[in-house]
Amino acid sequence: MLQVLLASLRQPRQAKLLDKLGFIGRGYSAYYAAFMDRRAAADPRSAVGGMWDEMGELQLATLSQQGLQPRHTLLDIGCGSFRAGRKFIRYLEPGRYTGIDISPRIIEEGKKLLLAEGISLDVFACRVVNDLRFAEFAGQTFDFLLAQSVFTHTPAAVIEECFAHVGRVMHPGSVFCFTFFEGADGSYDGAMENFAYRPAFFDALAARHGLRFEPIAGFAHPRGQKLGRLSHRP
Ligand SMILES: C[S@@+](CC[C@H](N)C(=O)[O-])C[C@H]1O[C@@H](n2cnc3c(N)ncnc32)[C@H](O)[C@@H]1O
Repeated sequence: MLQVLLASLRQPRQAKLLDKLGFIGRGYSAYYAAFMDRRAAADPRSAVGGMWDEMGELQLATLSQQGLQPRHTLLDIGCGSFRAGRKFIRYLEPGRYTGIDISPRIIEEGKKLLLAEGISLDVFACRVVNDLRFAEFAGQTFDFLLAQSVFTHTPAAVIEECFAHVGRVMHPGSVFCFTFFEGADGSYDGAMENFAYRPAFFDALAARHGLRFEPIAGFAHPRGQKLGRLSHRP
């Protein structure tokens, strides 16, 4: 009987469940950071979803449509292996790009990819974070913020934490673009670690934290993600 149980726990699905359970006390972000660390070690480009050039260019084009100029500052939340960071770092003036991520390994592997492309590590900032409270940026604001394919992988509590604190790193004209899968609030696809929400979820959450949410039409994401924009309420 014990052997049957042990064998079943070695099946991929159950092993994944055990892995998640082991992180319960430290929260989903700790589980996801370890998950991303492992994926980054295997292949830092596919760890963030692949489509390396296409998705990098889409992110630069999207923020440019929202008004991003080379003089602006940008906080790339969940920057991963710099799939878009490499485009932004080249586009923005030196020192204007900052990337943050919960996975130390994805940042480490991403830096290697940047160096291989001839991008100096001195012209941008990046750091590993444990949460989305932005305490490391006390007194600092960014003109643009981006969370591409981040809330598509986070439970509601992480998004709430972000919305509750992000206003402090946004000035009255800041624009925060983020992507999401549309679906029943918090619905979870364990195979892909995907979460979905209704636009109304973001609308209500934004209002609770003095922010304004606007859905942006016409975002051509190859896997059907939607785009939203947050700003301070006037
Ligand atoms: C699918 S990848 C996308 C990376 C990047 N935005 C891109 O489009 O290439 C999602 C990234 O978000 C990071 N992430 C997930 N939850 C996070 C959190 N709570 N705080 C910071 N980063 C997070 C993951 O570690 C991962 O690198």
